[in-house]
Amino acid sequence: MAFPTETVYGLGANSLDAAAVKRIFLAKGRPSRNPVIVHVADVEQARRLVSCWPDAAERLARRFWPGPLTLVLPRLPMVPDVVTGGGPTVGVRMPAHPVALALLRKAALPVAAPSANSANFLSPTRAEHVLADLGDKVDIILDGGACPGGLESTVVDLSEMPPRLLRPGLVSREQLQAEIGPLAEAGPLMATQEAQEGALPAPGMLPRHYAPRTPTWLWETYQDALFAAATAQEQGRRAGVLRFGQAEPESLPGACKGDTPIAYLVLPCEPAEAARQLYDRLHHLDRAGLAELHIALPPDEPEWLAIRDRLLRAGQRGKK
Ligand code: TXA
Ligand code: MG
Repeated sequence: MAFPTETVYGLGANSLDAAAVKRIFLAKGRPSRNPVIVHVADVEQARRLVSCWPDAAERLARRFWPGPLTLVLPRLPMVPDVVTGGGPTVGVRMPAHPVALALLRKAALPVAAPSANSANFLSPTRAEHVLADLGDKVDIILDGGACPGGLESTVVDLSEMPPRLLRPGLVSREQLQAEIGPLAEAGPLMATQEAQEGALPAPGMLPRHYAPRTPTWLWETYQDALFAAATAQEQGRRAGVLRFGQAEPESLPGACKGDTPIAYLVLPCEPAEAARQLYDRLHHLDRAGLAELHIALPPDEPEWLAIRDRLLRAGQRGKK
């Protein structure tokens, strides 16, 4: 069953039933070593899945739950291997969406749920995205409208000291550090090395993930993105541009060549609002029949970390 959370839609199953969780992997085409997050209705339910609940977990849960934060902790044996990717830890999160919470309370079970999309594809932030991607594989989709957060949860590993930020998200590194002190960072290089052996630390950190199907290039400036798109158009390849900033009232200079103008979308220059719209806009561009998509990245600054993280996995850097 797919259901809305405040971040993205999840594809859920009883986390204590290995066969049910395997069906999620099948529907997504997800590699079996990739662990899934277990969603809980309250802190007590989370504590029943883990072998220790350190002070840092207590502080973070008190401060950020229900909300977009996943805590990775040593698991108890009752959590099936398929949930943890065979690893010794389990990720737990109490979502803030009223539909997700109602479902969790009604089910009275911890619910394993990755994002409700085919492996490595864009996460869904509307029921329509789930329907278009997995409609033939999912029996029920609860439609809660657009997800208010729009970006997957922050994942922090508390099973080691110092705690490690595995995936940046709407709860920022600074907010986490204010509660529990310095965090170690798992850089993408480490992720790919570790990914070659054993359980993946957080496959959301793999170089290619969260990606549109349209070939996508990333640029540091709007001018470079626009130039690349205009070049593609001139060579007969329909191109799109996505940028962050103020929408321009008049038409784009040089954007209209022949009958097919460059598909052009602007996301807000405020990070939370941009996050809310990001996947929806990418889904939209991905359905537009483009040969190429050129994205001008937002600034390399802490408040844009989560969005840059996802975009840097959505495509490859363009070369001038
Ligand atoms: O916001 C979210 O987190 C959404 C909603 C549905 O809750 N879920 C989500 O799940 O994004 P998924 O499976 O698409 O991404 C979960 C990330 C992956 O990068 C996974 O590897 C990591 O969390 N993860 C889950 N359990 C883990 C564990 N025990 N150790 C390390 N990483 C873990
Ligand atoms: Mg995902």
